[in-house]
Amino acid sequence: MSRRALASLLTLVLVGAAGCLYPGAEVAYVQTPHAVVDEMLRLAVVGPSDVVYDLGSGDGRVVIAAARDFGARGVGVEIDPKLVAESTESARRAGVADRVTFRTGDLFQTDLAPATVVTLYLSPELNLRLRPKLLRELRPGARIVSHDFDMGDWPSAQTLSVHFRERGSLLRLWIVPRQS
Ligand SMILES: C[S@@+](CC[C@H](N)C(=O)[O-])C[C@H]1O[C@@H](n2cnc3c(N)ncnc32)[C@H](O)[C@@H]1O
Repeated sequence: MSRRALASLLTLVLVGAAGCLYPGAEVAYVQTPHAVVDEMLRLAVVGPSDVVYDLGSGDGRVVIAAARDFGARGVGVEIDPKLVAESTESARRAGVADRVTFRTGDLFQTDLAPATVVTLYLSPELNLRLRPKLLRELRPGARIVSHDFDMGDWPSAQTLSVHFRERGSLLRLWIVPRQS
């Protein structure tokens, strides 16, 4: 491909991504593939006693999978109300409406205290801004799993490299420590 064609393609991709950015959203809507969602929930060892919060929940797939396939309860927080409506309808169709909730709102304004597991697919900058809130509000032992992005100099407890349709993803797990 010529440089010019490559530049045009890049512009299209960037404009397309910007077009997906809901007002107030700090990252665009990009879905985690279902197979990768499954690996994220396995990495956090999600089970029936867990409450899984997906911050920036998109179409609700992470929270719905946590309830349907792992028996957990879950909450999705998403700034785009259309995606929240779609998530609520998908949860009803998946038969998990009684165990999941989707809220329209800003993830930074969400109380995280009830969560035992938090899942993220945001950006390195947002993860870093979120880190003090996660450490302040989550209970010791709570698990955080991030698709692709790190948490600055907070080393992860475990990483998992997954491949899906020729795209590699790196999943990271952190455990909230006891307050010192
Ligand atoms: C990359 S998508 C991830 C969607 C889903 N978690 C997944 O893994 O498939 C990030 C989502 O975060 C939402 N978002 C961005 N900024 C937000 C904010 N401040 N509060 C709540 N949601 C936000 C976007 O609208 C988008 O749907």
